[in-house]
Amino acid sequence: MNDGGDRASAAPREEYGPLGTTLVIIPTYNEADNLAPVVARVRAAVPEAHVLVADDNSPDGTGKIADELAADDEQVHVLHRAGKEGLGAAYLAGFRWGLEREYGVLVEMDADGSHQPEELPRLLTALKGADLVLGSRWVPGGRVVNWPRGRQLLSRGGSTYSRLLLDVPLRDITGGYRAFRRETLEKLGLTEVASQGYCFQVDLARRAVQSGCTVVEVPITFVEREHGDSKMSRDIVVEALWRVTAWGVGGRVSKALGRTPG
Ligand code: GDD
Ligand code: MN
Repeated sequence: MNDGGDRASAAPREEYGPLGTTLVIIPTYNEADNLAPVVARVRAAVPEAHVLVADDNSPDGTGKIADELAADDEQVHVLHRAGKEGLGAAYLAGFRWGLEREYGVLVEMDADGSHQPEELPRLLTALKGADLVLGSRWVPGGRVVNWPRGRQLLSRGGSTYSRLLLDVPLRDITGGYRAFRRETLEKLGLTEVASQGYCFQVDLARRAVQSGCTVVEVPITFVEREHGDSKMSRDIVVEALWRVTAWGVGGRVSKALGRTPG
C-alpha cells in the first residue's frame, strides 16, 4: 500500500492547496482518566497542532481537567457545552469553533486512546492529496486491538450495511478518526446535519462522497480503551439503523425519479 492509502471515491484533483494549521477536536463525556494522556500524546506527535476539547459538562470533572490543560498550554482550548447531546452535536460545535478561526485542517479523535495520536502524521500526509482522510480499521493493514467479538461484528456489519445501501465505496464508514480540509467541511451542509449519535460519522462520509470529494482511507490500529466506559448504547444503534435506512431509501427514490439525492 502506498503512503496515500486507499483512494475510494472521485478521481483526485491535480492540485491541492497547502494544509494550514491543524485543530484536533476531542469530544469528551466522562473521560477524566483519559484526557490528559491523550492531549499530551497529540502535542508530542504533532507539536504544531492545536487541540479543542468539546466537553458536555461531564459529571466526572473532565471539563475541569480540560481547563487545567488549557491554562498550561496556549495550544489547548476548551468548549464547554451545557449537557450531554451526543457525539454529533459536540463535533458540529467543535467544527463551528474551528471554522470561525484560522484552522486549515480539522481532525476528529476519540479521547480514550483508541485513536492513536502517533498515527496522525500519516493521516495528515495523505490529506495533502485528498479532501478527507479516514483512519480505517477495515482496509488492509488496519486492525482492532482488544475489541470484543460483538463490537467487531457491529462495526463491520454497520459499515457493510451502510456501504451497500448508500452506494458509498468506503470500508470504514462509521470510524471516528478523520482529517478534513476546511474547504471540505464548508461544502458538506453542516447546518442541515441532524445526526446525534455515532451515525454522524456515516452522515458526514456520505455527504463527502456525494459532494464529489476525494476520500482516502488510511489503515489505523484502533486500540480499545483501558479506562472508563464506551458511550455506545441501544439508542445510538437504533438511530443509526433508521437514519441510514432512510437515507438509502430516499436516495434510491430520488434516483428513480431522476432527481439528485438531497
Ligand atoms: N461531548 C460528547 N458528548 N462526547 C461524547 C458523547 C457525547 O454525548 N458521546 C461520546 N463522546 C465521546 C467520548 O467521550 C469519546 O471521546 C468519543 O466520543 C467516542 O466515544 P466512545 O464511547 O469511546 O466510542 P466507542 O469506542 O464506543 O466507538 C468508537 O467507534 C464508533 C463506531 O465505529 C468511536 O470511534 C466512534 O467515533 C465510532 O463511531
Ligand atoms: Mn472508545
